Amino acid sequence: MTQRAQQGPGRRSLLGAAVLGTATLAAAGTAAGPAYAAERGRGGQGTGHGSYRDLPVPTVIGHRGASGYRPEHTLGSYQLALDMGAHIVEQDLVPTRDGHLVCRHENDITGTTDVADHPEFASRRTTKVIDGVSLTGWFTEDFTLAELKTLRATERIPGNRQRNTVYDGRWEVPTFEEVLRWAEREGRRRGAPVWLYVETKHPSYFRKLGLGLEEPLARLLRRHDRHRANSPLLLQSFEPGSMRRLAKLVATPRVVLLSGPTERPWDFVESGDPRTVADLVTPAGLKWIASFAQGIGPTLDLVIPKDAAGRLTEPTTLVADAHAKGLVLHPYTLRNENTFLPADFRRGTDPNAYGDVFGAFQAYFATGIDGIFSDNPDTALLAAADFRTR
Ligand code: G3P
Ligand code: CA
Repeated sequence: MTQRAQQGPGRRSLLGAAVLGTATLAAAGTAAGPAYAAERGRGGQGTGHGSYRDLPVPTVIGHRGASGYRPEHTLGSYQLALDMGAHIVEQDLVPTRDGHLVCRHENDITGTTDVADHPEFASRRTTKVIDGVSLTGWFTEDFTLAELKTLRATERIPGNRQRNTVYDGRWEVPTFEEVLRWAEREGRRRGAPVWLYVETKHPSYFRKLGLGLEEPLARLLRRHDRHRANSPLLLQSFEPGSMRRLAKLVATPRVVLLSGPTERPWDFVESGDPRTVADLVTPAGLKWIASFAQGIGPTLDLVIPKDAAGRLTEPTTLVADAHAKGLVLHPYTLRNENTFLPADFRRGTDPNAYGDVFGAFQAYFATGIDGIFSDNPDTALLAAADFRTR
């Protein structure tokens, strides 16, 4: 497959603000509610909790919760995503110094907590090289869980999502175990399992520090009965090695995340594996992924590249190629604000105003993808309903 464009917003970039209208929320319904009673998955292979192949298609994955409306990776963000009806709610995991798994997009907590306002932690500010990138700030692996719990979460991109800053300081950094318990409570209340989508962040980096992610994650999955092939949980990582390691520990389904075509997974860099993402999206690369994973999470640009002006071009063959290997595709990430949309779907000149995101969803859904990560689950659900009834 020829890749004709680089990925859009980088893995570490994030996006904009929005206020949820009650009419929109009502229209979106809830995961267990009537709005989606008629939804059908593709596979029909599920047992027990139900297989990932039985999820509604297109599956809406609440990216870091409902991070378009609340500071990401907080119980407030996860709850809103679930209340909106997201089919799955995403967590990114990093460790504390004493080995607890907590939900943060990265171990650098400078931009998503109030740590800079804590004079008792001023001396912990430091510079580290993580996956080849030099970063200065405060890092989860330098804090015990008890210390981390004295911090509060803040909006990552207040310049784009000023409205979300009203929630700064409201929620703690959640542990993954707290999220599992929350999902169990909500599952009992709703009478339907709450699906989670769990990413291991920088697994090679943390293993070198003696803080391997996969073993404690597997223990938590077993303790909470989410270690089975039909558990309501998907695992994901940009490092295929992390998914291969987890495949030996649990049967929970696994997804390999794919960044820009010229990039190499960090575990490949460390081991000297020369393959790039462009190699992994060839039929041979996808066949290799299918030997230990059930899906891929590519950038949206790997599905529909953009031209030099940022406009969508023609879809690649990735959807058909991945499906031919039995892999599901859950690309990332669609957001409502102009600044994050393909140029063809921007409206007006305010980068933080909403564009024609419904048009963008339809373009991506038309490729045959199985689901999508979105910061705005309510919008994504309406777009998915539109798509199914077209
Ligand atoms: O895991 C899917 C998507 O979240 C990957 O990108 O950087 O937002 O974790 P990132
Ligand atoms: Ca993620």
